[in-house]
Amino acid sequence: MQAGDSELALLVSLPDRTQTQNGGVFLGRYLYPFPMRRRLQSCASPFPGCDWLFPSEWGDRSLQEEMSQNDNEMLNINQRLQQIFGEAINTAYPGLENPPLTVTPNQQAKFGDYQCNSAMAMAQVMKAKGQKISPREIAEKIVQNIPNNELIERTEIAGPGFINVHLKRMFVSKLLSSLLVNGVKPPSLKKKKKVVVDFSSPNIAKEMHVGHLRSTIIGDSMCRLFEFLGYEVLRLNHVGDWGTQFGMLIAHLQDKFPNYLSVSPPIGDLQAFYKESKKRFDEDEEFKRRAYQCVVKLQSKEPDFIKAWNLICDVSRNEFQKVYNCLDIRIEERGESYYQDMMTAVIKEFEEKGLVQLDEGRKIVFAPGQSIPLTIVKSDGGYTYDTSDLAAIKNRIFDEKADIIIYVTDSGQAVHFQVVFAAAQLIGWYDPKVIRVEHAGFGVVLGEDKKKFKTRSGDTVRLMDLLEEGLKRSMDKLKEKGRDKVLTPEDLVKAQRAVAFGCIKYADLSHNRINDYVFSFDKMLDDRGNTAAYLLYAFTRIRSIARLANIQEATLRTAVETTEVLLDHEKEWKLGKCILRFPEILQKITDDLLLHTLCDYLYELATTFTEFYDSCYCVEKDRQTGEVVKINMCRMLLCEATAAVMAKGFDILGINPVERM
Ligand code: ARG
Repeated sequence: MQAGDSELALLVSLPDRTQTQNGGVFLGRYLYPFPMRRRLQSCASPFPGCDWLFPSEWGDRSLQEEMSQNDNEMLNINQRLQQIFGEAINTAYPGLENPPLTVTPNQQAKFGDYQCNSAMAMAQVMKAKGQKISPREIAEKIVQNIPNNELIERTEIAGPGFINVHLKRMFVSKLLSSLLVNGVKPPSLKKKKKVVVDFSSPNIAKEMHVGHLRSTIIGDSMCRLFEFLGYEVLRLNHVGDWGTQFGMLIAHLQDKFPNYLSVSPPIGDLQAFYKESKKRFDEDEEFKRRAYQCVVKLQSKEPDFIKAWNLICDVSRNEFQKVYNCLDIRIEERGESYYQDMMTAVIKEFEEKGLVQLDEGRKIVFAPGQSIPLTIVKSDGGYTYDTSDLAAIKNRIFDEKADIIIYVTDSGQAVHFQVVFAAAQLIGWYDPKVIRVEHAGFGVVLGEDKKKFKTRSGDTVRLMDLLEEGLKRSMDKLKEKGRDKVLTPEDLVKAQRAVAFGCIKYADLSHNRINDYVFSFDKMLDDRGNTAAYLLYAFTRIRSIARLANIQEATLRTAVETTEVLLDHEKEWKLGKCILRFPEILQKITDDLLLHTLCDYLYELATTFTEFYDSCYCVEKDRQTGEVVKINMCRMLLCEATAAVMAKGFDILGINPVERM
């Protein structure tokens, strides 16, 4: 098969024509993983020498993105095995539509390294069609049809029809060497793709709360993932900066600081300022009337009002920035106000296409399959959150030319986004088969009492207070371990920040984002279990092995080129395979945007490393003198490879490991 660079379509020739009825299943050497295949359609090709034509979108996703494999990139072993088994299944049972394809890594060595469990499910499918074949028989036939390949040493059929796969040691060892030589490299993207991630997005004049903290942490990690994979990433802060609250804020500002145009008013506490203005708004009819006038003037962009609005936004912006600095977040502010002019055009477009209904003075849009309409114009003529999101999605599709758009907010907004996406499709802005638009929702943050996260006095927790408490607690922990006695003051502060912010991020990321999660400093700072504290310690320990044995950088670098990574010991073998599962994990989290899988993997890698280190000497020392007597270079390389993958994992999670802890 050849992957053409054609813009329009990917040309595929199928020499053996084992095309299944619904098209696009068999792809010669490149068999595409099954879940994706359901979305495919293919048609007969008019080009000579080429039998089938596949949509370029599909070609992009499979061959150009995921299948492209240069020698210096890490191989996704699981995916490669899926290709091989997919081919075997299609040759063995060419008539079977969408045969179930499952290949998983094996935890227990006695069952081989990977396992293909398709035979059982295939037997079910065939039974439903009236063909009675035992899974074992199917497994045998699959095994007989496994094509020649580079990585399978042998297979065996176990139990009712599991196919256990044993990998070639030499092959795995070569992959590890190549990882050490080339570094941890993602598969290369032939066509650069663009991702917009809308995250963090707090509201001006209001406190940034724990929900925004989650969005910030999760969104940043998604950005880092796509950046690592080579996408162009646009990180957008869709701040709430255009609501009606600005009317009363500006009216109050005019009264309290009449010379605000020449002297910057000292509003340190915007919350208090907000409360004062709200009180007046509720009690004073005259003030209320003026506040509404202010909104109109602001939205028609009168300079003095824009100036007042900017002053207020700046106060919030500075507060938000403090949080971003702690957490090392880069983000571009593009609030609701950015879309003001586009909103007007969007309303017109919906009206012209006859998609708008009037409802008690409001303009609403019903999207197919959605019971709740979008309100695009309020009865007072103002625009809404819905209007700004419609304008924003249009801008991201047509002006930003995004291939993927992700919104990271709490799951409470799921319906809002569902309706916005449906309306955008209704008006024809995008086809979900071509552009991936997704709401990545998350659960609420709970306190240790399992109730909504609050301070003791019942107020919402200020994020800066929370981060500061994290810093204090992490310093206590480091002192408890006596780290203040061995680290320089500078290194101690570095460790303090790495632990505090690393733990807060990791605690969030290591839980399935869909679920609610309980915020507990005690748990996140515990250095046992699946926590950042544990992983950071494990990482510094691995990094220090070479240093403590006095092995120079240069020596290690030469070893990488000259020493084979032998995997004779059972624990070396286990660790080697674990290291190489990294691309498989990245693939999964790119598909489902569930980052906890990466955390689980890093934890597994750290514990697998510990198992290895406990039973395999890397450095032998003289018991009496403590002098190094022997260095096992090949094991040192396994340490290096583990550290390299862990470092990349931390990078994606936005966690900053320190050399000394
Ligand atoms: N400002 C909103 C909030 O605090 C979140 C905005 C999310 N992004 C969007 N495009 N709607 O709930």
